[in-house]
Amino acid sequence: MQIPDIIIAIDGFSATGKSTLAKLIAETFSFVYLDSGALYRGVTLFAQENGFIDPDDTIHEADLKAALDQGLDLHFGADGTYIGDRRIEQEIRTMAVSGQVSPIAAVPFVRAFVDAKLHEAGARGRVVMDGRDIGTAVFPNAQLKIFVTARPEVRAQRRYDELKAKGEQPDLEAVMKNLEERDYIDSHRETNPLRRAEDAFVMDNSDMNLHEEIVWTQGLIQGRFGILE
Ligand code: CDP
Repeated sequence: MQIPDIIIAIDGFSATGKSTLAKLIAETFSFVYLDSGALYRGVTLFAQENGFIDPDDTIHEADLKAALDQGLDLHFGADGTYIGDRRIEQEIRTMAVSGQVSPIAAVPFVRAFVDAKLHEAGARGRVVMDGRDIGTAVFPNAQLKIFVTARPEVRAQRRYDELKAKGEQPDLEAVMKNLEERDYIDSHRETNPLRRAEDAFVMDNSDMNLHEEIVWTQGLIQGRFGILE
């Protein structure tokens, strides 16, 4: 059977559960899930490990650019994000990376580098992609756009629980502060800031469980595409 090319774009603030929703859509409706934030996190890890960003967030832009221009093999593998054949899925989810990812993601040539990878990956057919600028800049023609939001304290608690479950010892205040800082930088940067696309449907999932989220999304998907096989 011919599978139609469909792109679903899910954007929103940090820790609103975009990736959980995207994964659920992918499983329920047979889409490939692509996490654009993982690539920004991957570039950040690469910058940290190679001394292209200092602890005070000073970015050595010329050096970072030269390294990216040389070709950084950052890609989505079957089971997560990779640099070459090194799986970096755990390292990119730490607070150390979260603390520096937004300044890195504000650099225009970093965005261009990631966008090229996303376009390449988006050509895979049925794709659900989450991020900050997917519906506004990366795939402005996406057939369905969802903008996810939730109350700040709910988001901080979710991220705290997630980090704990992974064995980190997070501090709730620090998690909250990191989310606030990233929201600010992500919404105020010059290149493709986080904002809701005019044609995006807004989901506030502060008080929704996963089942309610999928029912809500199912309604949208069926309204837009009919029954997907
Ligand atoms: O922590 P959370 O899962 O909410 O964030 P993420 O999706 O992993 O993205 C990490 C960071 O990458 C964001 O805070 C943004 O600074 C940046 N990002 C972006 O600028 N544009 C995207 N399309 C996706 C992520």
